[in-house]
Amino acid sequence: MRHEGAAKQLWGTKFIPFHVPQIDEEEIRSVVETLRSGWLTTGIKAKQFEEDFARYVGAGHAVAVNSCTAALHLALEAVGIHEGDEVIVPTMTFTASAEVVIYLKAKPVLVDCASDTLNIDTDQIERAVTPRTKAIIPVHFGGQPCDMDRILEIARRRHLFVIEDAAHSLPAKYRGQTVGTIGDITCFSFSATKTITTGEGGMATTDNREWAARMRMMSLHGISHDAWKRYAKEGSWFYEVLRPGFKYNLTDIGAAIGIEQLKKCDGFAAARMRIAAAYNEAFAETPEIQRPICAPDVQHAWHLYVIQLQLERLRITRDEFIEALKERGIGTSVHFIPLHLHPYYRNTFGYAPDDFPNATEAYRRIISLPIYPGMTEADIDRVIQAVRDVVQASRNP
Ligand SMILES: Cc1ncc(COP(=O)(O)O)c(C=O)c1O
Repeated sequence: MRHEGAAKQLWGTKFIPFHVPQIDEEEIRSVVETLRSGWLTTGIKAKQFEEDFARYVGAGHAVAVNSCTAALHLALEAVGIHEGDEVIVPTMTFTASAEVVIYLKAKPVLVDCASDTLNIDTDQIERAVTPRTKAIIPVHFGGQPCDMDRILEIARRRHLFVIEDAAHSLPAKYRGQTVGTIGDITCFSFSATKTITTGEGGMATTDNREWAARMRMMSLHGISHDAWKRYAKEGSWFYEVLRPGFKYNLTDIGAAIGIEQLKKCDGFAAARMRIAAAYNEAFAETPEIQRPICAPDVQHAWHLYVIQLQLERLRITRDEFIEALKERGIGTSVHFIPLHLHPYYRNTFGYAPDDFPNATEAYRRIISLPIYPGMTEADIDRVIQAVRDVVQASRNP
């Protein structure tokens, strides 16, 4: 606790959490209105949220579900992934991106990340393709779109589906094209820490009518079209089970929040962009901190601001750096513990740390700093000062 005394003196006690969702009166009113309406589960609010979302990203169809994990599962099921197939997934991601492959008894095949963007290393995708490979799941790490031209080119040539994990990337663009309209199906997350939230929730977008219909049906037990209306005046008690589906539908309570959040999405994005710019400027002259790079041809959603510590220049580890920031009242996180380092993936697929050296090495260095619209200028300055102070206190002589 070598920084503790100084921290208390310098920073007082106000803690800046890693994330705080931006919930205003509009969301609260919308939820209360829904609660008073007597219709809590999937209904007109979920429908409206789907329509608003499809329009916002410019996709033909949007299917609202209760998580991004659900959206990814439904997307893989809709394109026909099944037992024995292989699906390419970056190791630098959350387990959701890969576990959905396992739900379908297929095999996730991990690929390393590029050491700068931490996005999937496209040079290594092709080496992972086998005759069993059916799809690629690019994850737009932190909100920065992957090199989609290259990924789509490989996918077309090798006849693979592209299911984008866009949990971090609303709103984002790749070479002028909005994420949500690029791959075969794109999956978004509205869990509490994401760029917009419904508490928990997700959305799958696609231009393919059949896949959209399939996902919609499978999201509600595989029962016939518009089954959610069966308790409404215009609905009917009659339904038929067409497939063994899942229970993935989004509630109207969640959608009521999502509709209001989506209206503010551009404003939220601008706020995050400003914070990223402030951090970029502040750490420009701090060689101990490697800043996240942003490709010139993308619009970054800045869901995460991930620094990489230049550990050779510091006397402390990443974990100690995080503790020192906490002592100064700054909450942080780590995105991600690469999948190949987790016991399940190690033991099941035999992965070792050296299999993906870029991700293994990045993992030792990464810290996600707070970045969300509710941060004040003073909060941003506090984070900057705390990072500088820890660097100062732990710099190699
Ligand atoms: C990259 C990535 N994919 C998928 C998910 C899963 O999202 P959800 O919690 O909405 O299922 C997350 C959640 O943090 C994530 O970070």
